[in-house]
Amino acid sequence: MPPRKIIIDTDPGQDDAVAILLALASPEDIEVLGITCVAGNVPLPLTTRNARIVCELAGRPDVPVFAGADRPLGRDLVTAEHVHGKTGLDGPTLPEPTMPMADGHAVDFIIEQLAEHAPGTVTLCPLGPLTNIAMALQKQPAIANRIAKIVLMGGGYFEGGNITPTAEFNIYVDPQAADIVFKCGAPIVVMPLDVTHKALVTRSRNDAFRALDTPVGVAVAEMTDFFERFDKEKYGSAGAPLHDPCVTAYMIQPHLFKGRHINVEIETTSELTMGMTVADWWGVTDRAPNATFMGDIDADGFFTLLTERLARL
Ligand code: BDR
Ligand code: CA
Repeated sequence: MPPRKIIIDTDPGQDDAVAILLALASPEDIEVLGITCVAGNVPLPLTTRNARIVCELAGRPDVPVFAGADRPLGRDLVTAEHVHGKTGLDGPTLPEPTMPMADGHAVDFIIEQLAEHAPGTVTLCPLGPLTNIAMALQKQPAIANRIAKIVLMGGGYFEGGNITPTAEFNIYVDPQAADIVFKCGAPIVVMPLDVTHKALVTRSRNDAFRALDTPVGVAVAEMTDFFERFDKEKYGSAGAPLHDPCVTAYMIQPHLFKGRHINVEIETTSELTMGMTVADWWGVTDRAPNATFMGDIDADGFFTLLTERLARL
């Protein structure tokens, strides 16, 4: 099978960075058409900086990186420096990027790519708030029919939320955008906290990254070292959850994940549960299924894939 064409929409973030590195390390499976940045973990000037740092770390300054929305559709931006550090990519010391930003707006790039390529051949991989994707759907609704799939990290159901008791960060930051995306009609695959909290960088998995003894291996070990202090303190877990790489791993080895095709709706009005992904896991409503909501991961298989692929960079 030829490599699947993807656009990575992202707010790096250490785990976004690892997701991008995994994609760039896997050209036989994934062709990265471009990276579109959104405000999320940190403000847009930092997410665009960090995305370029990651491309340069991977030796891929040729990948076009676009700036997108600098705020959610209808709310103030909420950021997550408490998790990712002041720069969003705290941990390793990496050089400031020298590659330029690509010309044009992220939203227009998404629309153009979907128009240029045959219908059903471009997959969107959102790793942050869904603002850019929703803006593209609002500006050009016809693109919904041309999207192969939207494979996104966001939400949580049995696991609850990580920014409020009921909401996961990416959905909480822009619930209105998430609502537009979940209603757009394109096939959707969701990697919620229920899955990503099982993808933990334990000490031995972190050692395996470091033992690659390459700039990428060491940087990933240092990123996950930094990122893990927050989750260890909060959850008492064995290490940092690698949320976003679940998306790019799914593009390479979908059999690592198990889930159900169900109805998922986004809470957009209640302040108490704002941004909750209301997942009809047990099929107790007659609302039509609109997403494959993952519930489980083969974590050992996932880390084996990740370490093998990162070794190539
Ligand atoms: C999500 O929020 C961000 O902090 C991570 O990069 C991930 O995309 C997890 O809730
Ligand atoms: Ca992210």
